[in-house]
Amino acid sequence: MASTAPELDPLDEHAVSTLVTQALADIEGAHNVAELKEVRLSILGDSAPLVRANRTIGQLDPTMRGVAGRNLGQARGALTEALSERQRVLEAEHEAQVLVDEQVDVTIPTQRIHAGARHPLETLMEEVADFFVGMGWEIAEGPEIEHEWFNFDSLNFDIDHPARQMQDTLYIDGTSAGGQGEADGHLVMRTHTSPVQSRAMLTRGVPLYVACPGKVFRSDALDATHTPVFHQVEGLAVDKGLTMAHLKGVLDHFARAMFGPEAKTRLRPSFFPFTEPSAEMDLWFPQKKGGPGWIEWGGCGMVNPNVLIANGIDPAVYSGFAFGMGIERTLMLRHGIADMHDIVEGDVRFSTQFGLTGRGH
Ligand code: PHE
Repeated sequence: MASTAPELDPLDEHAVSTLVTQALADIEGAHNVAELKEVRLSILGDSAPLVRANRTIGQLDPTMRGVAGRNLGQARGALTEALSERQRVLEAEHEAQVLVDEQVDVTIPTQRIHAGARHPLETLMEEVADFFVGMGWEIAEGPEIEHEWFNFDSLNFDIDHPARQMQDTLYIDGTSAGGQGEADGHLVMRTHTSPVQSRAMLTRGVPLYVACPGKVFRSDALDATHTPVFHQVEGLAVDKGLTMAHLKGVLDHFARAMFGPEAKTRLRPSFFPFTEPSAEMDLWFPQKKGGPGWIEWGGCGMVNPNVLIANGIDPAVYSGFAFGMGIERTLMLRHGIADMHDIVEGDVRFSTQFGLTGRGH
């Protein structure tokens, strides 16, 4: 536009005012800041007629220079002002448009994301682990697919001990009990956490104080009180001079931690191959249906000397006690949960009742 514009005579007032009129129209016609920049160049740039004309003033007759200077100066002043006014307007328009374009409607309904909750079994296991760690015990873990030797043989189960069937074992290779007699034995889904006793004795040695929380498996059908996959916590202490009194003390302490200061336990003679003597452990349960009474909570006993020997510990020097109980059962008793389905089905509405930490009340 500027380069093709005709030369401007600084003394020609009409020409100057025509140029100004045209330039003002160009300024008004700029739609945005970028276009206005072009227009500004065409009006005030080095090769703009107004600017070029200004350079010719020096060549005029000195008496004419004042008129020429005023002509051009006024034009220039008017255009500069118009340019900056248009710049202001365009910037304001731009800002207003940005506000419209980037507007956020805070009233639009959104899809709410529910945070969910940790499963109460998981948090109860942590609470149990915390309890034992608080007594200075260690936490031990073992594999869920276990050698038959650890699950049964090292725990003093005979090759054809009915317990191998009694516990409804899930054999990985589909065969029934083989055990000691077999060259390499079988793999089983561990039926209890007691094999971790054996692993702990072999790897950690004595004195030994461990709690072993974990999953166990039996070929039970899922019903209101059974599930084929459930959780136990095993306790094992091996040291010099341990007696059943120590076992009873730990159980009562644990019961109070789980069920409150009124809780207590009682032992009834029973049998497990890996403990001698053995006992069923009952919990005093004030909320029992039909009135307060004892309710079975787990098994326990003094570690059978055969088990100590099988795991490299001298029973003449050391004695031990062990116990195990179901975590699902503990959770059901603690919270009055009547149906196992609620625990295994994973419905978040169940978990959230226990709060985000899963600890409930
Ligand atoms: N392992 C036993 C069970 O699953 C429980 C138990 C553990 C008994 C430790 C005695 C000692 O029933």
